[in-house]
Amino acid sequence: MCGIVGAVAQRDVTPILVEGLKRLEYRGYDSCGVALYADGQLQRTRSTDRVAELEREIQATGLNGFTGIAHTRWATHGAPATHNAHPHFSGQSRGGARIALVHNGIIENHDELREELQGAGYVFESQTDTEVIAHLIHHFYTDDLFQAVQQATSRLEGAYAIAVFCQDEPHRVVGARQGSPLVVGLGQSENFLASDSLALAGTTDQIIYLEDGDIADLQLGKVWLVDKDGRPVEREVHTVSLHAGQADLGPYRHYMQKEIFEQPRAVGDTLQDIESITPELFGDGAYKVFNEIDSLLILACGTSYYAGLTAKYWIESIAKIPVNVEIASEYRYRDSVPNPRSLVVTISQSGETADTLAALKHARGLGMEHTLTVCNVATSAMVRECKLAYITRAGVEIGVASTKAFTTQLTALYLLTLALAQTKGRLTEEQEADGLRALRHLPVAIGAVLALEPQIMAWADRFANKENALFLGRGMHYPIALEGALKLKEISYIHAEAYPAGELKHGPLALVTDQMPVVTIAPRDELLEKLKSNMQEVRARGGELYVFADSDTRITSSEGMHVIRMPEHYGKLSPILHTIPLQLLAYHTACARGTDVDKPRNLAKSVTVE
Ligand code: M6R
Repeated sequence: MCGIVGAVAQRDVTPILVEGLKRLEYRGYDSCGVALYADGQLQRTRSTDRVAELEREIQATGLNGFTGIAHTRWATHGAPATHNAHPHFSGQSRGGARIALVHNGIIENHDELREELQGAGYVFESQTDTEVIAHLIHHFYTDDLFQAVQQATSRLEGAYAIAVFCQDEPHRVVGARQGSPLVVGLGQSENFLASDSLALAGTTDQIIYLEDGDIADLQLGKVWLVDKDGRPVEREVHTVSLHAGQADLGPYRHYMQKEIFEQPRAVGDTLQDIESITPELFGDGAYKVFNEIDSLLILACGTSYYAGLTAKYWIESIAKIPVNVEIASEYRYRDSVPNPRSLVVTISQSGETADTLAALKHARGLGMEHTLTVCNVATSAMVRECKLAYITRAGVEIGVASTKAFTTQLTALYLLTLALAQTKGRLTEEQEADGLRALRHLPVAIGAVLALEPQIMAWADRFANKENALFLGRGMHYPIALEGALKLKEISYIHAEAYPAGELKHGPLALVTDQMPVVTIAPRDELLEKLKSNMQEVRARGGELYVFADSDTRITSSEGMHVIRMPEHYGKLSPILHTIPLQLLAYHTACARGTDVDKPRNLAKSVTVE
């Protein structure tokens, strides 16, 4: 979603701002811009093109400066157009603008503030909620930007991370956050702001994570912070090991492809060198918590939600603990019956998803204090907000479509299943050893599935001219069918739906014609014979079946039935292996259709607004 970079230095910061924007591009955006203090005034360049184009414009105009802010915008209020792109200015006169501001998040009371500011004579150039913040700061500004930001933010309702600077104090940038991430990067006589530390990779590794309500005053030689009550506060400085090259594409055509092929490494890293199952893998005090709880409430969105659905099958079957899985954006607003003995588990790649964070806070507000997150970003708000955590080690995921984050989440959730089962006395030593053996073999098993790519590419060519597809799975493979359908629709824009195969006859069978490809996940499990009957129902209506079948299922290719054999049957961990071909199918179909695979239209990587 939107990205922020800011800098105050004694050198030209334009390359730092542009490089920072490039590092944030993967989050998805539809316009971008930069403002600098140059030639004694605030100047800006904005574009509805890519950051590379913005960079060309900056080079063409020779724009440079020692202080500046930059932004990638993902439109919420107002169309993706140059006049809506950030930075926004306030106080324009012949001497130039006085205030420049960039913003992530959504200001909920923007209508009311706009009316008030219009009444005070402010003229709005854009349809954004952001412009009200710029005018509000200008309205309060006398001679101290920090104070003006404090006064203005006290009037804001909603979520924001802002970076702002001012013509009258050119060696100062002020940042503030409430509900949207913002970090301060510390340098030698220069300081930086960003919505993600990744933006500052290669510039500084000394990072302060601001907390909700914090306001940061960045000057050349100092950084000053106050908390939500306006009290001076010191926050821990973290040394972040992000290498500039981590976002490199390497030999791959797209990040999504790179990330699919990184899965053996990502799953291996996520398992670390675990030698035995113990609740403490999830943090100090986990044993006590696991012992006390009588159920789980899993909260997540999108792909992470499907990881939660898969975990429900595992946990209920192996640890025998009841599990509820809820879409975070729904849970936060519905009346539910809280259970203080439930373990609230959030699952999130980014750890910054606004809906999941809000759902977590909602659950805590209802008295559920046992919290655990499975998250890919150790420094994220989600990890800070939860008492227990398992950090997946997928590495930075750039492609908007989640791939390695999903399989590493599943890996962590299987470990959680085993740890819960052990705590509840439902895991024998032999089962523990078997479970660990299967987990350790996963990287090799995933590697073997990746080798199916050429066969899957041949299928992708057939999918490329379809507009609809059905995905079928049963039992713990039903969430994998949902994930496969989500991948296909996200990046190829083919309408795809997933069903538990037994549900076909209750409605979706009406959609099946010879134009409808039906992707079927066919593991060798106790539901196989039932699944075969469901497949016959499809064939009888002329539907074309594309089946990923375990080698020992005896499902063979015939007319209208295309089969790719999975190298090995993988028992309870089979959902992880069956995910891989669906990712490849979506990826190659999208390539064949020529879509923007890593930045699909309308989507953002990290959804930090409601
Ligand atoms: O960062 P999170 O895991 O919390 O993100 C949740 C969803 O926004 C995310 O999984 C989304 O559905 C992906 N684009 C799916 O590929």
